[in-house]
Amino acid sequence: MSEPLVSVEDVKVHFPIKRGVVLDRTIGYVYAVDGVSLTIQRGETYGLVGESGCGKSTLGRGMLRLVEPTGGRVVFDGTDLSALRGENLRRMRRRMQMVFQDPLSSLDPRQSVESILVEGMRAHELDKGREETGKQLRELLSAVGLPSTALRKYPHEFSGGQRQRIGIARALAVKPDLIIADEPVSALDVSVQAQVVNLLEDLQEQFGLTYLVIAHDLAVVRHISDRVGVMYLGGLVEEAGSDELYAEPLHPYTKALLSAVPVPDPLVEDRRERILLTGDLPSPAAPPTGCRFHTRCPWRQAERCDTERPVLREILGGHRVACHFAEEIRDGKIRPHEVEPVLVHPDEVLIAPDAG
Ligand SMILES: Nc1ncnc2c1ncn2[C@@H]1O[C@H](COP(=O)(O)OP(=O)(O)OP(=O)(O)O)[C@@H](O)[C@H]1O
Ligand code: SF4
Ligand SMILES: [Mg+2]
Repeated sequence: MSEPLVSVEDVKVHFPIKRGVVLDRTIGYVYAVDGVSLTIQRGETYGLVGESGCGKSTLGRGMLRLVEPTGGRVVFDGTDLSALRGENLRRMRRRMQMVFQDPLSSLDPRQSVESILVEGMRAHELDKGREETGKQLRELLSAVGLPSTALRKYPHEFSGGQRQRIGIARALAVKPDLIIADEPVSALDVSVQAQVVNLLEDLQEQFGLTYLVIAHDLAVVRHISDRVGVMYLGGLVEEAGSDELYAEPLHPYTKALLSAVPVPDPLVEDRRERILLTGDLPSPAAPPTGCRFHTRCPWRQAERCDTERPVLREILGGHRVACHFAEEIRDGKIRPHEVEPVLVHPDEVLIAPDAG
C-alpha cells in the first residue's frame, strides 16, 4: 500500500513588492503560491505543470524551505518541516535534493566534478575517507552513465546532457529520499531529453526514489509521472493519475493546455477540439477574484465564477478539480462560449488594499 512521503498543506508563498529607497514600503505582494495542498506517495513520481510564472518553482523551493513559506505546512516523512531549525533542518534537507534546469549555472565552473560531488557528501558527513569515498564516487558516476575519468574534469568540458547527469549525481551523492527536479530536461536538445528522462526512471527504481518533476512541457511530465498536478496562478486547479488526466481533463484550463499539444494520429488530430485561450495571463500580484481562471475561461458562468474561489474537490476516485461547474462541463450541460477578455490592469498592484 502507498504511504505519503510529503504532504503539502495549504502552502502559501507571497513575495512582498517594495517601493521607496528610504522607507522601503511594502506596496503589495506577488501571490506566487497561494494555498496549495498535495501529497506525494513514497516511490511515486508527481508531475507539476503549468504556464511560466504560475508558481511551480516557488512551490518546489518552498517545500524545501529554500524560500520561507508565508503560510501552511510541509510534512516530510511525518515531520513538520516548518517547526525545524538549524541542525535538524539541515539534516532533514539531505533527504530532499533538487535538480535544476540549467546545470551549467547550477554547477560551479571552478570546481572539478569530484569536488562538486564530495562537497555535499562532506556537508552531511557521508565522506568516509579516501578509499571508500572514491569507490562511492565511481559507483555514482556509473549509475548516471558517466566514466570515472569524469571526476577530474570541469563542468564546461561536458555536453548539456552530461552536465545534467552530473547535476543528478550531485543530488544522489547524499542519498536523498525525494528529488525535486525543476525542468530537468527543458534546457537540453530534444534528442538528449529522452535519455535523461530514462535515466531518472532507472535511478528511481535502483534507489527507491520519490520524485517531484516540474515541467511546462506536458509530454515530458506525462511520460514520467504517475500523477500530475496542474497549476494556474499560484493554485492547483486539477490533479489526477497521469493517464486519467490526459484521457479526460476536467478543468477548463487543463483542457486548454492539452488541446494545444499535437496528437500523433492525424485522424484524431483533425477531429479534436482545440481551445484557444484569449486574454493575457493575469499578474500574480493582482490575481482575479473568485476563480482565478475566470478572466480566460470559455465556460465561465455569470454566477460564482468571479466571486467564489473554487476549492480543489474530488470528482472521481483520485481525480481532484477546482471548478464550480466541473460536472456540468464534463456532461456537456454547459458549453464553451466566446470569452470577452477581462482586462487585468497591472496598475492594480499599486492600489492593493494593503498599500497603506
Ligand atoms: N524571489 C522572488 N521575489 C519576487 N517574486 C518572485 C520571486 N521568485 C519568483 N517570483 C515571482 O513569483 C511568480 C512565480 O514564479 P515561479 O518561478 O515559481 O514560476 P514557475 O511556474 O516556476 O515559472 P517558469 O515556468 O517560468 O519557471 C512569478 O511571478 C515570479 O516573478
Ligand atoms: S469555476 Fe468558472 S471560471 Fe473557473 S474554471 Fe470553472 S467554469 Fe471556468
Ligand atoms: Mg520555474
